[in-house]
Amino acid sequence: MRTRWLGILAVLSTVVPVAALGVDAPHDGSATVGTCENCHMIHNALGGTLINAPDNNTACSSCHNPLSTTPSGARLGLPWLTEDQAFPGKSGQQHRWDALADSPAFGAAQPTDSGMLKRIKDGRIQCAACHDPHADVKAFDPTALHTSIAPGVATAVTGGTTTMTMTLTAPAAAAVTRGYRVQVEGISGAQFRLAISHNAKTTDGAPIWWVNNGTSWVQGALGTGTQLWSTGAAIALDDGTSVQVTFTGTAAVGQFWDFYVSYAHLRASNVADAMCLQCHASRNQTHVTVEGPGNGVTIFSHPVGEALNANGKGYDRAAANVLDANGALQATGDGNPTNDLTLDGGTTVRCTTCHNVHNADSNSLTTDAR
Ligand code: HEC
Ligand code: HEC
Ligand code: HEC
Ligand code: HEC
Ligand code: HEC
Repeated sequence: MRTRWLGILAVLSTVVPVAALGVDAPHDGSATVGTCENCHMIHNALGGTLINAPDNNTACSSCHNPLSTTPSGARLGLPWLTEDQAFPGKSGQQHRWDALADSPAFGAAQPTDSGMLKRIKDGRIQCAACHDPHADVKAFDPTALHTSIAPGVATAVTGGTTTMTMTLTAPAAAAVTRGYRVQVEGISGAQFRLAISHNAKTTDGAPIWWVNNGTSWVQGALGTGTQLWSTGAAIALDDGTSVQVTFTGTAAVGQFWDFYVSYAHLRASNVADAMCLQCHASRNQTHVTVEGPGNGVTIFSHPVGEALNANGKGYDRAAANVLDANGALQATGDGNPTNDLTLDGGTTVRCTTCHNVHNADSNSLTTDAR
């Protein structure tokens, strides 16, 4: 991996200067083969930035479509097709990724963040304006922790004999972006030994394995670990206790599970919906703004950035009493978590209290893939 990484980096650097550029999970060797050539071509490239597709969006959708190389089991509601993009008042369940950035009708304008602005191409937004396909900066969206397999659910093997299931405990908020292959590397009676790889899918040399010597995870060949575990025990993988798994059934050497833990690979911070406001600043209005007076020019929108009853008029429900689609309190609700109105920090109304960027079909009866 390293040799090719440096090679491409050197060539690309002659075109665009870069600081140290790594690729985080799942775009590394954990969920794809993890080479730069997955997305880039150093000669005869069809797209700008030496992209191997006509444009950056096509590069994203070439994989973000289960009909191509995307592993099965991803909980992202794929494929996302061009026609799934949302057109106000018409249809769609994904935020547009190819619209003109300046859209006065929908209160949108060019982003102010320089990294995002640089990725407005020919006046249009693109996946890469909001996402960084290389690095995953947790601080940009600490609440967007996502795992490719559902936590708390007994999960069948990705490969090998099917005699055991693995359950991922919901990762701690401190979890690091990382892709995992967890493989049974040996058995002793009813107990088993495990090995972990973070680049199991690499085609650039052999995967690197980590085994447990009874004290910690150390780099080592498959079969050289000594720590034995039993089914039912919570086993901490190599991210402290942030990522833990338990097993049920009978272990067999060679069976393995693939999954990853990551955040949303955002290009800039979306804490307190800051990213939405990069482009939709005109809709950053409080109840004071909305109360007017009007001047025939200002366009008013629903207040954001404040708590319910911020205007003190007593007609809002208390945060704890917000209703679900079936009229019951949201806390008990209709059992559909994806139609809940989420107040930021349990108190504050944001754009994302009512909107979601992806997999939002505007139908409160269906549970959306998230
Ligand atoms: C998952 C797809 C993907 C992978 C894998 C990938 N890139 Fe990129 N890369 C992109 C896209 C899309 C762009 C253009 C948008 C942007 O600037 O981020 C880009 C842009 C770049 C740029 C220009 C950055 C700038 O500031 O203009 C460099 C340099 C680069 N990539 C190097 C690499 C190297 C080196 C690797 C392998 C270690 C790599 N990329 C792997 C998708 C990818
Ligand atoms: C070589 C294949 C490949 C390409 C090209 C690719 N991706 Fe991915 N990406 C994946 C895989 C595999 C995953 C894991 C989820 C899945 O199964 O789709 C993933 C996951 C993600 C995630 C989700 C992380 C999470 O929270 O789960 C984001 C965001 C993402 N990709 C953005 C992009 C963008 C933006 C582009 C284009 C610039 C792109 N990807 C191009 C393979 C690819
Ligand atoms: C890079 C700029 C950009 C960012 C960031 C951005 N938007 Fe948008 N948004 C736009 C543009 C441009 C349109 C108009 C699309 C069109 O012309 O169809 C739009 C349209 C929309 C629509 C109307 C689409 C529909 O469903 O009918 C909603 C809702 C929306 N944005 C919400 C958000 C939210 C919520 C966020 C933050 C998570 C956000 N936007 C972040 C640029 C952006
Ligand atoms: C207007 C900004 C914007 C655009 C354009 C956009 N995304 Fe996203 N995307 C986000 C944000 C914000 C999140 C985090 C959502 C959250 O916190 O729940 C996200 C989350 C994701 C995820 C993680 C799964 C999920 O639902 O949270 C994937 C995968 C992804 N985006 C891929 C893409 C791809 C591929 C494209 C282009 C086809 C794209 N995005 C276009 C803003 C955007
Ligand atoms: C209280 C819930 C709520 C909040 C908060 C909210 N929206 Fe909306 N938004 C809606 C609803 C419902 C619609 C569809 C009805 C309509 O077209 O007016 C909508 C429509 C839109 C549209 C498309 C139609 C139009 O009027 O242009 C855009 C763009 C949009 N919202 C952006 C945002 C942004 C950006 C924020 C945060 C600054 C935000 N919204 C906050 C509920 C909300």
